[in-house]
Amino acid sequence: MILVTGGCGYIGSHTVVCLLEAGYEVIIIDNLVNSTEVVLTKIKKITGKEVVFYKEDVCNKQALRAIFTKHKIDAVLHFAGLKAVGESCAKPLLYYANNLNATMILLEVMQEMNCYQLIFSSSATVYGEPQQLPLSETHVIAPTNPYGSSKAMQEQILLDMGASNALWKIALLRYFNPIGAHQSGLIGEAPSGIPNNLMPYVTQVAVGKLAKLSIFGNDYQTLDGTGVRDYIHVMDLAQGHLAALDKLPKQSQATRAYNLGTGYGYSVLQVINFFTQETSIEIPYQVVDRRDGDVASCYCDAQRAKNELNWQAKYKMLDMIKDSWRWQSLNPDGYSCSKQNVHTRFKSINID
Ligand code: NAD
Ligand code: UD1
Repeated sequence: MILVTGGCGYIGSHTVVCLLEAGYEVIIIDNLVNSTEVVLTKIKKITGKEVVFYKEDVCNKQALRAIFTKHKIDAVLHFAGLKAVGESCAKPLLYYANNLNATMILLEVMQEMNCYQLIFSSSATVYGEPQQLPLSETHVIAPTNPYGSSKAMQEQILLDMGASNALWKIALLRYFNPIGAHQSGLIGEAPSGIPNNLMPYVTQVAVGKLAKLSIFGNDYQTLDGTGVRDYIHVMDLAQGHLAALDKLPKQSQATRAYNLGTGYGYSVLQVINFFTQETSIEIPYQVVDRRDGDVASCYCDAQRAKNELNWQAKYKMLDMIKDSWRWQSLNPDGYSCSKQNVHTRFKSINID
């Protein structure tokens, strides 16, 4: 069985769908701090399969122990964490406490229970300002905000754990910019409040929830002056986890980092133009000052994941836009409209 922490969230839920479709049995633990149980009914609808769900905090050691005692867990996919850069600057302790404790407590319980296979959700943000592009896994780690620092610290802890005991097999997956949604339009990214990230902002402008996009600077050293990023379809990312899971037992190093991106960068203006091409909807925008902490360009060297995991992204930008838009237009308010159906449809077990 695979334990998925944060499995009700954006990337976790898409990965759970892929795991179920590949025949894995899945247990989700999520405290729903940034998600909703409604996603569980949607996963069931897509896959026709049940997951076992625990509404619990990963920092709750007793609860984790009880879950590991009750189920034979072979590997853990650890998505649970807080992820908003701006909030992490305002509340650094919250980010360090939640993200670091969750990982340390998880590791402690895994070790106790002799479960040594772990896939960790890291981020391209650990690289900070790129010293050279494309970013390879050997690039210096130099995060520029508390969220990124919490990821870099968790990576260090996982490296140290790997060095402490050769039984550990740990993959650090450094995601670039996940966008898109499952092709069913049933699950997708549902940010609370005004989105921080480009694609959900664009789709919310297109659906009429927001008036116009602010482009954060058009004076970068890029093809058109706007920021360039490596956008990756969330379903490609999900498949990357399955590839890493498959490889884990054969991984020669105890802890190994992989970039998960396409290797291609697109500017903000290119993304807007692709969006209009795909949907025929114009996105009104204004150019404003640069956002603090933003870099001009960020895209990856995706070769290591291709060589060692036999994985590469297959979706193109127009696919990503099509799927982001399908999700947003079918669910203008995210998951909030279908909450009443939740409790009858999935299996939830109390632990005491
Ligand atoms: P998300 O917020 O949608 O999902 C995270 C889930 O973890 C949520 O369901 C939340 O309720 C849960 N959670 C948080 N703290 C928890 C705790 N202590 N105990 C139990 N559950 C907890 O975020 P996402 O976009 O799906 O990201 C998943 C992971 O990938 C995160 O670790 C994030 O930092 C990382 N990541 C995300 C991106 C991105 O752009 N979305 C990029 C790079 C890395
Ligand atoms: C953000 C996070 C980063 C995280 C990544 C993936 C910040 C500072 N960084 O990075 O830690 O790993 O998401 O989730 O939040 N843009 C606009 N207008 C908007 C929104 C974005 O012009 O309203 C621009 C940005 O300046 C950037 C590009 O769009 O050039 C992409 O932005 P975004 O989606 O927020 O991702 P990142 O900046 O890469």
